[in-house]
Amino acid sequence: MRFVPTGCIRAGMRLGKTLYNASGEMLLSEGKEIILPYIERLQQLRVNGVYIDDTISEDIEIKSVISDEVRNKAIQGVKNILTHSVSDNPSDKTAAIAKAKEIVELIMEEILKNSNLMVNMVDLKVFDEYTYYHSVNVAVLSTVVGVAIGMNHKDLFALGLASLLHDIGKVFVDKEIINKPGRLSDNETDDVQKHSELGYTYLRSMFEMPVKASLGILHHHERYDGSGYPKGLKAEQISLFGRIIAVADVFDALVSDRPYRKALLPSDAMEHIMGNGGVIFDPNITRIFSMKVAPYPLGTAVELSNGNIGLVVENYEGFGLRPAIKVIAEKGKMATPYVINLLTDSKCLNITITGISGLSEESIKENAG
Ligand SMILES: [Fe+2]
Repeated sequence: MRFVPTGCIRAGMRLGKTLYNASGEMLLSEGKEIILPYIERLQQLRVNGVYIDDTISEDIEIKSVISDEVRNKAIQGVKNILTHSVSDNPSDKTAAIAKAKEIVELIMEEILKNSNLMVNMVDLKVFDEYTYYHSVNVAVLSTVVGVAIGMNHKDLFALGLASLLHDIGKVFVDKEIINKPGRLSDNETDDVQKHSELGYTYLRSMFEMPVKASLGILHHHERYDGSGYPKGLKAEQISLFGRIIAVADVFDALVSDRPYRKALLPSDAMEHIMGNGGVIFDPNITRIFSMKVAPYPLGTAVELSNGNIGLVVENYEGFGLRPAIKVIAEKGKMATPYVINLLTDSKCLNITITGISGLSEESIKENAG
C-alpha cells in the first residue's frame, strides 16, 4: 500500500484504505477500483490523496502511530468540540470538553504503545474539513515529541489537550476571513491573530484546564526569535508546549493543501522545519521532531542518485534520509524488485535520494523506460 496524491490518481487503481469524512461517513471503501467519476469527486472534495494498493507496493504495510479507528474517532470528536464551543448551551460545551479529554487519552495510549515507530505523516484530509484533521495531526505530532523527550503522563495529557485544541479560538473569528483564499488585509490579519488569545481566554474562563495546556495554546504562534504573536516572546520565554505545538502546527499545515497554496511533500516540509531550527523554532524540539517524523513516508516512490527508482519500505528513527528501499527500476529498466538499506549496506553509502518519482505505477514504468 502507498499514498498517492490526488493529482497522480489514475483510473484502474485500487483503494488501499477506506476514506471517511470528518462526520465518519464513508466516501470510498477499501478495495474499490477507482473509476473516473471517483477521481472527479475526490478533486471536488479536494482530498489531498488516498492510499492505494498495487503490485509494486503490495508488500508495504503502512504502520501508523495511531490506528484509523482512533484517528476517525478523534476527527469526529474535534468536529463536535469546535461546533459546540459556539453553542449557547453550557452543558454541550462541558460534554464536548470531556470528550476532548477522552480523545487525548486514546491518542496518548496508542502513541505510547507505538513509541518505536516513526510518524508517516502523509494523511488524508478532506479540504473543507481541514481544521478537524489538522487538529488531530497536530495532537499526534506534539504527543510524539512529548513522548520522545520523556514527558511524564500528566504533562503528556496536558500537551495532548493543548495541541488538540490549539486553534479552538478560530471558532470565534469570522469564518469568511479564516477561509479566505487570497491575501488578508491588515485588519483581517489582526482578527485571525487574535485566535490564540481567544482560545486561551475561552478555555481558562469556562473549564478547568491545566495551566501548561492553556499557555501552550496562547503561545503556539510565538516564534523562537521573537517574531511571533501575540506578545513577541523569545526562546524560553515561550512555554515548552507552545514551542512544541509551533513545530507540529507548521509542519502539518505545510503538507496540506491550503486555500492559498498546494501541499508540500513531507521531505520539503521537513527541510523548511529544519532550516528554521534555532531561528523561528526551538532548535532542540526541531532536532527531536526531525528524528521522529519521516521525510520519506513508507510507500513513497523515490529517485536515487544512481538513476534507480524504488519505494520506501522501512524508516529508521534519527536517520530519516537513509531508509530501506525496494528498488523496482534500474537504469531505465524495470527490475526484479530487491531491497537496499541506505543506512546499513556499506555498498550503498554513496547512494542518496534525489527526489520523488512520478507516483503512478504506469509512470514509474514509463520513467524507467
Ligand atoms: Fe493557530
